[in-house]
Amino acid sequence: MHIPVLLNEVMEILKPQKGEFFIDGTFGAGGHSEKILEAIGEKGKLLAFDWDPKASERNIIILEKKNFTFANVNYANAKKFLQENNLPKADGLLLDLGFSSDQLEDSGKGFSFKKDEPLVMSYGESGPTAYEVVNTYSEEKLLEIIKELGEERFPGRIARVIVENRQKEPIKTSLQLARIIRSALPRNYEKGRIDPATRTFQALRIYVNGELENIKKILGDLESIVKSGGRVAVISFHSLEDRIVKNIFRDLKKSGKAELLNKKIISASRDEISNNPRSRSAKLRGLKII
Ligand SMILES: C[S@@+](CC[C@H](N)C(=O)[O-])C[C@H]1O[C@@H](n2cnc3c(N)ncnc32)[C@H](O)[C@@H]1O
Repeated sequence: MHIPVLLNEVMEILKPQKGEFFIDGTFGAGGHSEKILEAIGEKGKLLAFDWDPKASERNIIILEKKNFTFANVNYANAKKFLQENNLPKADGLLLDLGFSSDQLEDSGKGFSFKKDEPLVMSYGESGPTAYEVVNTYSEEKLLEIIKELGEERFPGRIARVIVENRQKEPIKTSLQLARIIRSALPRNYEKGRIDPATRTFQALRIYVNGELENIKKILGDLESIVKSGGRVAVISFHSLEDRIVKNIFRDLKKSGKAELLNKKIISASRDEISNNPRSRSAKLRGLKII
C-alpha cells in the first residue's frame, strides 16, 4: 500500500481548517486526502482528482464520506472542472506528483522495469502508450525524449538499441525493454546506484502522460483555482518537475500575487526515508496566494 510522503510537512504548509474547501489533485491511495478530511471536518469539503480510474478503489473508506468527491480527470483541467461544476475557488490545493507505489506494483501498465507487463505507462486511458512510442517513434525522437525527460547520459546508445531490437520483433513488455536498455549501457552504470533502465522508464512515463505540461497548466491557472489566502503544496520527485514548480512560484512571488511558505526546500527526514525509501527524492514547496 502506498505510504503518503511528507505527511506532517504537507499539513503544516496547507493548514486545513474546519469547514474549508480543499482540492487534492493527485488522490493516489488517498493518504494525504484522509488527513485533510480529518482536519476540515464534516462541514469541510474535499474534491480529489486522479487520472487513474482505479485510484478511487484504493480507498473505499473515504469514498463513502458525504463531504468527499472523487473525479477521474487530469488535474490539468482543474480550472475547467471548477467552472463547469459551479464550484468556488479552494482554500488549498495539494499536488503529490508522479505515480504511486500501488501503480508500480499492481497497475499492470509496465511502470516497473522489474515486472513483465505490457508497455502502457499512461495513468489515464488517453494519449499514446509507451508501446507506441518505443515501437514507432524515430530514433532521433526517442533520443530526444530519453535525453530531455530522463536526463540520461547515454540517450543515443539506448535509442539505437531500441530501434535495432524492434526491427527483429516488437518490444512488448517492460522486462523486454529493460533488458534491451541494460544491454546498451556500461556495466558499472552510475556506479550501480540505480538500474540502467531507471532514467529511460522515467522519460517514457513523463512523455506518455505529458507530465511537465500538466504541472505548467495547473500552476499557470492557480489564481482561478485557489482563493486569496489559500495555500498550495507541491511534492515533486525529480529535478525536471521541481524546476518548473520553483520557477512558477518565484514568478508569482515577484509579481506580488503570492508568498512563499518555505524559503528552503523541504525534504524527508532520515527516519521517514528509512520507513519509506520512496520519500528519498521528495521535495516539497509551499505557496500562499495573496
Ligand atoms: C504520488 S501518487 C499520490 C499519492 C497520494 N498523495 C497518497 O497519499 O496516496 C500520484 C497520483 O497522481 C495521479 N496523477 C498523476 N498525474 C495526474 C494528472 N495529471 N491528473 C490527475 N492525477 C494524476 C497518479 O495516477 C497517482 O495516483
